[in-house]
This record gives sequence, structure tokens and C-alpha cells, in this order.
Amino acid sequence: MHPSEVPSETEREARDRAALWACVAPAGVLLVVTFAYATLRYVVFGPWSVGHIPLFVLNKAVSWSALWLIALAYALGPLARLAPKRFGQHLWLRRYIGIMGFALACLHVVISIFIFNYHYYRLFFRQAFELTALAEFAMAMGALGWFLLLAPLAASLPGAQAALSARYWRWLQRLGTLAMLFGALHVAYGVPGWLTPEKWYGGLPPITLWSALGVAIVLGLRGLVWLRGKKLGG
Ligand code: HEM
Repeated sequence: MHPSEVPSETEREARDRAALWACVAPAGVLLVVTFAYATLRYVVFGPWSVGHIPLFVLNKAVSWSALWLIALAYALGPLARLAPKRFGQHLWLRRYIGIMGFALACLHVVISIFIFNYHYYRLFFRQAFELTALAEFAMAMGALGWFLLLAPLAASLPGAQAALSARYWRWLQRLGTLAMLFGALHVAYGVPGWLTPEKWYGGLPPITLWSALGVAIVLGLRGLVWLRGKKLGG
């Protein structure tokens, strides 16, 4: 690199400030909204006590935000194709939003380990230490989804794009779409609850439903762009 191309300290600071904002702002807004929703649903209208806010309720906000951040990262590409003037300038955010989504998914896994027992999740247990088949399936999907997210994470590391061929770099990124699909299957244990609105605490739809809806919208958007590409390509 020519010395005149090396960014100055001021330029590096401006770049880092923008990256920090991209990490903190979308994740922060989502966490506040989802945390308020989860507290309303489970503590204000539901049967959970205030003492369960630090782990049980927080875990709901963290997991929901994680899945929606990853979905948002994967929505920006198709949105920029459909409305380049509106979304094209925001494409650089994908990397930071996706990394924050992965970081929150890790936090969700750690929190879940502390409270994964018969008292908190009766639905998942046949008896105290035995999971139901549904719970085994749901947790396997979660674990696989988390594992697959390592691929786009690796592809998002500094220098990875330059070091890899374009084709394989794109493949690593695309594995994130599959991870999202596993994320949706991971929360599908909530489907029976989606169908009984009369039982929703405070009339608020379940978080599993909101989470899966985010994934469905993004997969729909990506499908739409793919179909449009096929049509234009003849
Ligand atoms: C080893 C991996 C994982 C484990 C052990 C795990 C564990 C759990 C548990 C125990 C629940 C039930 C939470 C509750 O109802 O309060 C849950 C729900 C959920 N998980 Fe995971 N999870 C994993 C991976 C993931 C990943 C990778 C994502 C998304 C990026 C994710 C997103 C969600 C969401 C959105 C919910 C629904 C929350 C709710 O409705 O309350 N999970 N997970």
C-alpha cells in the first residue's frame, strides 16, 4: 500500500465510530423493544414474577433480537436489489448487524444453560431429567443453527473476503440463510401456542411467532429477488 493510501488516525477513528454505531444502535433498539414486550407479556400480563426478569425474561429478548438481527442482515441485500436508492447505501451495515446477531445468539445459549430445567420449561421435559422428542428436535435445530452461523461469521472477519475466492466466500455467507431456517425450526415448538390466541397473555402474540415471522419475511424477500432475477434472465 502506498503511504498516501494508509488511513490517518482521524480517518480510522471516523471509521471505527461508524462501525461502533452499526453494532450498538440496531441491536440496542431491538433489545429495548423486545425486552419491554417480553416483560409486558410474561410479568405484567403473564404469571412470571419480577424475580424472573434477569434470566428468563432477558433470555426471550436476547434470543428474539438475535434472530431478528440475523434476519435483518440477510434482508438488506434483497431490499437493496428491490429498492437500490433507499437501501443500497445501508449494505455496509450487514456485517456489523450480523456479527451482533451471532454475539446475542451466543449470549442466549449461555443464559439458556442456566435455566434449562423442568421448572422453567415444563413443555420440554417428560420428567425431571428427560427431554421430550419435541424438545430434542427443537434444541438440535438451535444447536445446528448456531453451528452454521460460524460460516458467515468467518466470512465476515477482516481480510476474509480478499483471501477467499468470490464463489466460496458467497457460499459461506449463504450458509447463514440455512442457519436462519434452522432458527425458525428451533422455535417451531411454539406452533400450538400460535393457534390459541385466547390464551395469549395480554393478547400479545408469542415471541416464537414474531421470531419465525421475521425469518419467513426474509426468506420470502430472497425468494422474490431470485424469481425476479430468473424472469429478467429469461
Ligand atoms: C445450542 C444452541 C441453542 C440452545 C441450547 C437454545 C436454547 C433455547 C431455549 C431453552 C429456548 C426456550 C426459551 C424460552 O421459551 O424462554 C429457546 C428459544 C429460542 N431460541 Fe434458542 N437456543 C439455541 C440456539 C439458538 C439460535 C442460534 C437462535 C437464533 C439465532 C435462537 C433463537 C431462539 C428464539 C428466537 C427463541 C424463542 C424465544 C421465546 O419465544 O421465548 N436459539 N432457545
